[in-house]
Amino acid sequence: MGSLAACVAGVGPTLIIGSTGFIGLFVAEACIDSGRPTYILVRDGPMSPSKAATAKVLQDKGATIVHGTINDREFTEKLMREHKIEVVISAIGGDSILDQLHLIDAIKNVGTIKRFLPSEFGHDIDRADPVEPGLTMYNQKRKIRRYIEDEGIPYTYICCNSVAAWPYHDNTHPADVLPPLDHFQIYGDGSVKAYFVAGSDIGKFTIKTIDDDRTINKSVHFRPPTNLLSINEMASLWEGKIGRVLPRVTITENDLLDRAKEMRIPQSIVAAFTHDIFIKGCQINFCLDNPTDVDICSLYPEDHFRSLDECFDDFVKKIVDKNPKAVSMPASKNGIFVPKSDTEPLAITV
Ligand SMILES: NC(=O)c1ccc[n+]([C@@H]2O[C@H](COP(=O)([O-])OP(=O)(O)OC[C@H]3O[C@@H](n4cnc5c(N)ncnc54)[C@H](OP(=O)(O)O)[C@@H]3O)[C@@H](O)[C@H]2O)c1
Repeated sequence: MGSLAACVAGVGPTLIIGSTGFIGLFVAEACIDSGRPTYILVRDGPMSPSKAATAKVLQDKGATIVHGTINDREFTEKLMREHKIEVVISAIGGDSILDQLHLIDAIKNVGTIKRFLPSEFGHDIDRADPVEPGLTMYNQKRKIRRYIEDEGIPYTYICCNSVAAWPYHDNTHPADVLPPLDHFQIYGDGSVKAYFVAGSDIGKFTIKTIDDDRTINKSVHFRPPTNLLSINEMASLWEGKIGRVLPRVTITENDLLDRAKEMRIPQSIVAAFTHDIFIKGCQINFCLDNPTDVDICSLYPEDHFRSLDECFDDFVKKIVDKNPKAVSMPASKNGIFVPKSDTEPLAITV
């Protein structure tokens, strides 16, 4: 497989696993938008209405749906051969990370895959060191990395940091829930910074890396300077959008550790990552000084990242669109919305 690493021009058919999931949808949409032939692997069996709708949206945009699971190595091999797949992107969920061992075996046997992106889409898991149960997930992701490297499969690891949204410590998919309208939970003293990247940019920049020879066998770090904020700064930004000051409740380091220790899955995993990000500073406590590190902004300096300010504008619009009653006043002349004081965080259903 090693000689394939030099062969980068003209990437073609791309297979995406997990496209009905939270991160996978962003990646699949960007892949289709890029004009690549896009195949999405969708598991057989009953699907929730929202997942079925997601698959249909992607199909209508131009993706080809293939039914199956990566646990079936022979099936995946056949699929990759038949469709002449050149790039494989996995965005399977945190509970299925080790299923990728079968996928890697299939990629190895097919022997013509030019790039594999395993399900990462978060921190640099060789550097970050969360408490349990977050550590178990990272150990599984590390196992996948080592297997890829040992087999000589050309790879790119996407270390995109946090999704632009309010970082609830008990919610796996923060961008699915609107920022608070009643009070803020501030982790520690609220001063530790992290990178918040729009989901659409995670998709767009991930796809840019797959035919870029500078990202072969590299960890690509998403560190747009404009998207680096502390939770205190995020709270002030959101208050500016909603035109109100909200009370702040401190969640201490021990509170987060206690929630991690409860071992409620997945909430305790998210609490462990929240502790790592907002108490230990795992996104900012290292320099990109390994030969395998690449900063996405240095690769594409001309490209704009959506700011958290812009993403928060989207959330305000969703509040009004999804639940007009959540605001006591529609858009005022200066564009500020005033939510009712007794409003709880709202789930966004897609
Ligand atoms: N940076 C961040 O803020 C952030 C946030 C969330 C997640 N992440 C990371 O992003 C990655 C994806 O997580 P997610 O939360 O987006 O996942 P998710 O929403 O749980 O979706 C997982 C997807 O993978 C599919 N899948 C799982 N096992 C499969 C298998 N064996 N064969 C085929 N398809 C399979 C699922 O299909 P079904 O529909 O059939 O179940 C679903 O489409 C993970 O590595 C996670 O750690 C990062």
